[in-house]
Amino acid sequence: MTLVTSLPPGARVPDDRLLGARTTSLTEHRATYPVPPQPGRRSLDELIARIERAGLLGRGGGAFPTAKKLRAVAGARGTPIVVVNGAEGEPASAKDATLFQQAPHLVLDGAAWAAAAVGATNVVVALERTDRATLAVAQRAIAARAHESSLTFELAELPPRYVAGEEHALVAWINGGDAKPTYGRVYESGVAGRPTLVDNVETLAHLAQIACFGSDWFRRLGTAAEPGTILCTVGGAVARPGVVEVPIGMSLGSVVRAAGGATEDPQAVLMGGYYGAWLGRDQLTDAVLTNAHLKPLGVSVGCGAVVVLGTSSCGLVESARVLGWLARESAGQCGPCVHGLASIADGMRMLALGHADRGTVDRLQRWGDQIEGRGACSYPDGAVRLLRSTLSACADDAQLHARGHVCAGGQRPPVLAVPRRPREMEWR
Ligand SMILES: Cc1cc2nc3c(=O)[nH]c(=O)nc-3n(C[C@H](O)[C@H](O)[C@H](O)COP(=O)(O)O)c2cc1C
Ligand code: SF4
Repeated sequence: MTLVTSLPPGARVPDDRLLGARTTSLTEHRATYPVPPQPGRRSLDELIARIERAGLLGRGGGAFPTAKKLRAVAGARGTPIVVVNGAEGEPASAKDATLFQQAPHLVLDGAAWAAAAVGATNVVVALERTDRATLAVAQRAIAARAHESSLTFELAELPPRYVAGEEHALVAWINGGDAKPTYGRVYESGVAGRPTLVDNVETLAHLAQIACFGSDWFRRLGTAAEPGTILCTVGGAVARPGVVEVPIGMSLGSVVRAAGGATEDPQAVLMGGYYGAWLGRDQLTDAVLTNAHLKPLGVSVGCGAVVVLGTSSCGLVESARVLGWLARESAGQCGPCVHGLASIADGMRMLALGHADRGTVDRLQRWGDQIEGRGACSYPDGAVRLLRSTLSACADDAQLHARGHVCAGGQRPPVLAVPRRPREMEWR
């Protein structure tokens, strides 16, 4: 099998990359993008090498090198399977649904190229079952390409749970179990015990573009260590909340301007969504959108969600609401996650209401230390990160609240909304 490098006659490479590839029609899509190779049982080393040269990092939150995963799956024993992770359980993120709805064939091409790279013959497209609009687009797109290739696409409708998008939970659900994290290496033994490549929707769309336009083209934007563009869901106190595509390495201020600019003086910015962390006011001016820059600040680019908190809102009230929700979303399997997150949520609620005592902040910090690293998955670590960054970015407010002084910001409409869930959690 050889790697297709020539584009269809008259094809024009889109300027604004992912969001520029705006069509749900397969015929229109094929005017720019060639048909990916037919599935075979041999992996396509040349394509993996191209992805490696491009330096593509996963856009599902962990920024893991995509080529490394492709190699691990291609080298494992058995016929691999590809899973498109479109769960997007993160309430502050809408980039995967937006991209899938605007350019489903780019995402499915990415899955097809990835399948060719690892020697897979099946793809499972996993979407949240409540997202009927994206499911409908996916169904039509899969049907449209049925005669184009022998690659099999299946849809999986996940229950709406934050942790359902964690790759072990996703694989457990596809295998007929609950959408709860488990142990094991999915790249060796995942769906039906086969080597499984789980990649995010956006990662696969970049992969398709690298396969067609090359690694040098991909590297024209972004930084040397973190190349390419990234989709950011920008919300909170901005003029035009929504999904924007920006080069990695852009200043955080420019990302906010791409969403119409801040509508209030920002007191903090939540980076990476509810699994991310707050950047405080003094960190905002110089903040740059790369993991290399953000890591020393205790933050990562994560899923690219950026929420601006204006000065009229209360960061403690916002975080308390989110931490309460995260505690309720625990998969309920590990003691530190179940009991620890519930205690943190309760402590934060009391602090936000101004009903805490002066030892509450220290207690919250201590509980965070006790929980971190003790879950079967990293879910509770995300909640601890949010807690710590709240106590740091809102340190002065936390002291005032601990003395019973509560500002009017807590009465404002929520900036960080939380989805309503039925009392009885659905895991299947
Ligand atoms: C609690 C939790 C929730 C996650 N939810 C998602 C999700 O909704 N979508 C996603 O692509 N990755 C999610 N991930 C990351 C996946 O486990 C996995 O790393 C990712 O799909 C890999 O894709 P990538 O290499 O393309 O980034 C989540 C991880 C954790 C710990
Ligand atoms: S740490 Fe929490 S979310 Fe992760 S497996 Fe354990 S109970 Fe579930």
